[in-house]
Amino acid sequence: MSKKERLDKVLANMGYGSRKDVKKLIKSGRVKVNDIVTLNGETKVNPYEDNIFLDNERIIYRRYIYLMMNKPKGLVSSTDDPSFKTVVDILDQEYLIYKPFPVGRLDKDTEGLLLITNDGKLAHELLSPKKRVDKKYYVEVDGYVEEEHIRLFKEGIILDDGYKTLPSQLEIINSSIVSKVYLTIQEGKFHQVKRMFKSVGMKVLYLKRISMGNLILDENLDVGQFRELTDEEISLLKKS
Ligand code: URA
Repeated sequence: MSKKERLDKVLANMGYGSRKDVKKLIKSGRVKVNDIVTLNGETKVNPYEDNIFLDNERIIYRRYIYLMMNKPKGLVSSTDDPSFKTVVDILDQEYLIYKPFPVGRLDKDTEGLLLITNDGKLAHELLSPKKRVDKKYYVEVDGYVEEEHIRLFKEGIILDDGYKTLPSQLEIINSSIVSKVYLTIQEGKFHQVKRMFKSVGMKVLYLKRISMGNLILDENLDVGQFRELTDEEISLLKKS
């Protein structure tokens, strides 16, 4: 990590504004590199080795952030929304400078694992239909889920718009008036899980995502909490 980069580029990459904004910031004398006020945005720095300060606070350089959220009901999975609070709205300011976004969508009433990052390449790979990344859900549905459903889901379910889903894996935890199951799908069509159960005459009463690729929801995260991924989780996720 010895590459030198322009100071204005480093600050802009970290979300401190556009190149123009950060040039102004630098010109105003608020930025120091190794204890020396630097007024020139073209100054070459090694963001991992040089000590860069803004308003005397050390900036810890990193390009990407990766957060795991146990999404609560009531939040929408987007970066902004005219009517509802979003998953990004509950993040701390220290993360917002990285301009994070949720990878894929969970419905407003769905809980569970949501990856929030600013790594567009990883997001693209996880969401690409070609990659067929597994998404596992815990589902409660009204009615008895039976062996026959396992077979139907494995074959593919015809949704209300005529689309036939890819084979999916249904595991019955408990079959009852309200059944508890796990469902693993490799796609992300709009309301897919709810529509799959609707096609077999059942209503989803509760939905929670528990894994995405190699990333598993941390059971210690309460609903509404989030944390950074560990380095190990990041590298595992990249191998999904
Ligand atoms: N399928 C759904 O129906 N809703 C979700 O939030 C995720 C998958």
